[in-house]
Amino acid sequence: MVSICFRWWTPDVLSAETIEFQSIGDSRGELVALESGGNVPFAIRRVYYMTGLSPDIPRGFHAHRKLEQIAVCVAGSCRFILDDGRARKQAWLRNPRHGLYIGNMIWREMHDFSRDCVLMVLASELYDEADYIRDYDTFRSLAAAGMSG
Ligand code: TYD
Repeated sequence: MVSICFRWWTPDVLSAETIEFQSIGDSRGELVALESGGNVPFAIRRVYYMTGLSPDIPRGFHAHRKLEQIAVCVAGSCRFILDDGRARKQAWLRNPRHGLYIGNMIWREMHDFSRDCVLMVLASELYDEADYIRDYDTFRSLAAAGMSG
């Protein structure tokens, strides 16, 4: 079962939301299952994860033209900044049952990683550098024009 647990942004920030995954927990621990087309709203074509992150070294600073992603802090915590070109909001990820869905054409930055942070990302496509927009002004222009390039 998937439920959208809350929308922490005003409606002017599009294509991003927090999904609460069901945890199958018992005295042995917690288990969260992620399934394409089930509690993940796209076919998963790639999974990657980041470790050894530093609180003072932010990452991200890009948007994707087409890619959809879900980020999960499976351990530790970090702070996301999401920006649709009109408004900018932030979200803390600190619960392994919470996935941050990030649609296409959303600028994202990740900050304040805890030392134990393991950030896992599910992606709808294989890695493609051509899908990245790494320049913020270019992103703003494309977003304002309702384009993805
Ligand atoms: P990048 O997405 O720029 O990471 P971040 O935004 O967190 O700083 O990726 C960092 C490097 O890793 C970059 O050279 C591209 C490469 N990379 C892959 O080769 N495959 C992947 O699936 C990802 C996500 C990155």
